[in-house]
Amino acid sequence: MSDELKIYAPDPAVAAQARVSGMAAYEALCKEAETDYEGFWAQRARELISWKTPFTKVLDESEAPFFKWFSDGTLNASYNCLDRNIERGLGDKTALIFEADGGEVTKVSYSELLARTCRIANALRAQGVKKGDRVVIYIAMSIDGVAAMQACARIGAIHSVVFGGFSAQSLRDRIEDTGAKLVITADEQVRGGKHLPLKAIVDEALALDGCGAIEKVLVVKRTGGAVTMKEGRDLWMADAVAGLPDSCEPEWVEAEHPLFLLYTSGSTGKPKGVQHSTGGYLLHAALTTSWTFDLREDDVFWCTADIGWVTGHSYITYGPLALGGTEIVFEGVPTYPDAGRFWKMIQDHKVTIFYTAPTAIRSLIKAAEANDAVHPKSYDLSSLRILGSVGEPINPAAWEWYHLHVGGGRCPIVDTFWQTETGGHMITPLPGATPLVPGSCTLPFPGIQAAVVDETGKDVPWGQGGILVVKRPWPSMIRNIWGDPERFKKSYYPADFQGKYYLAGDGAIRDPKTGYFTITGRIDDVLNVSGHRMGTMEIESALVSCTELVAEAAVVGRPDDTTGEAICAFVVLKRPRPTGDEAKAIAKQLRDHVGKEIGPIAKPKDIRFGDNLPKTRSGKIMRRLLRSIAKGEAITQDTSTLENPAILDQLSQNN
Ligand code: WT7
Repeated sequence: MSDELKIYAPDPAVAAQARVSGMAAYEALCKEAETDYEGFWAQRARELISWKTPFTKVLDESEAPFFKWFSDGTLNASYNCLDRNIERGLGDKTALIFEADGGEVTKVSYSELLARTCRIANALRAQGVKKGDRVVIYIAMSIDGVAAMQACARIGAIHSVVFGGFSAQSLRDRIEDTGAKLVITADEQVRGGKHLPLKAIVDEALALDGCGAIEKVLVVKRTGGAVTMKEGRDLWMADAVAGLPDSCEPEWVEAEHPLFLLYTSGSTGKPKGVQHSTGGYLLHAALTTSWTFDLREDDVFWCTADIGWVTGHSYITYGPLALGGTEIVFEGVPTYPDAGRFWKMIQDHKVTIFYTAPTAIRSLIKAAEANDAVHPKSYDLSSLRILGSVGEPINPAAWEWYHLHVGGGRCPIVDTFWQTETGGHMITPLPGATPLVPGSCTLPFPGIQAAVVDETGKDVPWGQGGILVVKRPWPSMIRNIWGDPERFKKSYYPADFQGKYYLAGDGAIRDPKTGYFTITGRIDDVLNVSGHRMGTMEIESALVSCTELVAEAAVVGRPDDTTGEAICAFVVLKRPRPTGDEAKAIAKQLRDHVGKEIGPIAKPKDIRFGDNLPKTRSGKIMRRLLRSIAKGEAITQDTSTLENPAILDQLSQNN
């Protein structure tokens, strides 16, 4: 493996001015954390965060694995992201550059963002929202979206942002699980020139069972599209904030006070509400923005993720603002009005740090190769200095293209491995220190004790694949699964490792010479489609909930050139197995059904019908066989335990 490694040493000019400059500096930080783990984090927590009451305790392991950090300190996240920058003289500095789907640009300064945040915070208080209450935010990328999150943080309410692509049913599930009393939404969202309803979906969700705790819905006017306002429940945001002051005393909360819940898929059951803390989370969001992106005073930072995902939380709403940065908030999609949109925006706004997902890169490569006008070479991208990748492994070919055509061969690419649960980067290069290897997320962030172990928790030698774990708790780690501490323990601190190691759910291998990590993919039944995480069980439940048609369903992933993985469903119907046009029509109906149950991102790409599924004599579905069929591979595995081997041929045929 090492023999083929193509290594890109950091550019001396980048390294010279970087915060962490050179490998010796990186190694010194790792050593510092190893020697005095708590001292390492405490020092950064004092440097990067303003505390109302300084903490005296650092890590509290007394209730492991429910770890606490900085627990006797108090702070406010919105104070740290807004007021503090204004006190430092950055009041007039641009905090957000919002570009709408249609191209209109709105800039807000730190002072303006604070005023907007405070008005929303006051409106929330006026509607009876108090510290610890949950607020669901179902809104598109917008200044109000960021301000709404900050407003919740300001009054100690716990936000739970639900991605605007989720269906009414998924929204309902999240509203019910959080027990939220208020929803913040918009009339519509605009993506790729299309108006899509948001408020109507909220109405649909609230009409389902389980949303009884919701008292109010605040509606931001985005398009002016028609909506129905329910008397006594629904209120326009403009009316809710009218006459309220644009200052609002922050609620000082304990470091462990939950800042937000964010739902993500696991291998079983319903999505889980990942609970993050205020102090530890904010520290890591800020520290990684500082070290991984080397964010400075004059940078223009663009993270293309949606605020509905954790990337948008850490690298739009919290990290860059905590450091007083200027960042882009983009409403639209990378391919509208054409596939040059990202490159044009980098050129127009002189973006210096650009952070996106491999799936976006791969689809833009295809478009650029077909049409010079949308090729990065047709734009001036010379402002860029650092590139980032997140969400899934980046294949070396896409990495090389990103490096050469977007970064002009000058810009380091930070391939950041992390998860909703980790709050911020875990394994990542630092741009002025780490020599880069395409396809590898390189080495752990200083202080993060990542390791590759076998089933018993023993370290495996470099060069041998194993299970990715984190050996010590870190400040921004998941604190709990909302309402389900048992599931938290089982999912992340399983007995296999005596409850001592955090289980990431990914496999990994370290390069035999450099020790660099390569993530080999999930080891559980979680799929990653275009950087969106989904459980195979969730999609199976959605399919079988189409009770008039579906008897049984099994979902697996298969590799896909653009989306990383594609969803492939094997379905047994309650009627004879369809073929030809009929099969196509039923497949479409099932796709739409899944879209309605979960959201369009969960629609299976392939649906294959069978008279049965391959099962062992004890009735267990043999998914590894289905994975081979989905890939179009010949079946080489042992099938002797199979009850019904003939089914494999049937499923292998294209319907
Ligand atoms: C899963 C987490 C991290 C924020 C966005 C996704 C995969 C993430 C990488 C990377 C290889 C990656 C893992 C992980 N993943 N980043 N740089 N290289 N794989 O957060 O939805 O919680 O998904 O995404 O499989 O477990 P998420």
